[in-house]
Amino acid sequence: MTRVRAAVLASGGGSNLQALLDHLATLGDARALDVVLVASDRAQAGALERARSAGIRTALVQTRSCPQATALEHLLESHEVQYVVLAGYLQLVPAWVTQQFAWRMINVHPGPLPRFGGPGMYGRHVHRAVLAAGVDRTGPTVHLVDEIYDHGAQLAHWPVPVLSGDDEQCLAARVLRAEHLLFPRMVNDWGEAIPRLLDRDITTIDVSSPLTLPLFDPELDDATLAARLDAALTG
Ligand code: GRF
Repeated sequence: MTRVRAAVLASGGGSNLQALLDHLATLGDARALDVVLVASDRAQAGALERARSAGIRTALVQTRSCPQATALEHLLESHEVQYVVLAGYLQLVPAWVTQQFAWRMINVHPGPLPRFGGPGMYGRHVHRAVLAAGVDRTGPTVHLVDEIYDHGAQLAHWPVPVLSGDDEQCLAARVLRAEHLLFPRMVNDWGEAIPRLLDRDITTIDVSSPLTLPLFDPELDDATLAARLDAALTG
């Protein structure tokens, strides 16, 4: 079976990249994609180290502060990338790249959208805003990427409870646990649609409403959460 060639773009530690690589390894031959490139705007990003350990090619993406690196579109073209996964990538992807990869670029955001998204809303800023708003639910949102920050069609949202006494750190850790379970599954599931999307056959794909999952229960262990998630995603 020919698998989809995916690139992961990441600016940070790469725990979502790692969760994806682990999930793909668990799926084995049933996986829909291979990660053929991990690229970053930061030479020190832990994600690059994780990629090297996994034997995956790495590259630096050209930015204003690093003009000598390779432009993103050239990286994606030279690695024959068909599917782009944003896993904590802090740069706005240029519109001509999002247009080229329309329907084939996916992101995870650590909060509900659109309320807790947009420019400057990343990482701890999201959790701080959630706590300041006094809401009792947050949770990761997986969405397609267009030229506007955190704006593309939402594919899934997993509500995560905000508990009394939460600070930014413990809330971030709870949401990240949910991300690590949800994002790899969504990346692989969406990856199954990429060959059809490459054939411009989008008539059978409905993204009109995101999949809303039952409330994340932090008391459960990861294996139980994963089993419930798998049931919800396939059911
Ligand atoms: C995650 O919180 C993700 O939601 C956001 O960036 C963070 C990346 O963390 N888009 P990591 O680098 O995957 O550990």
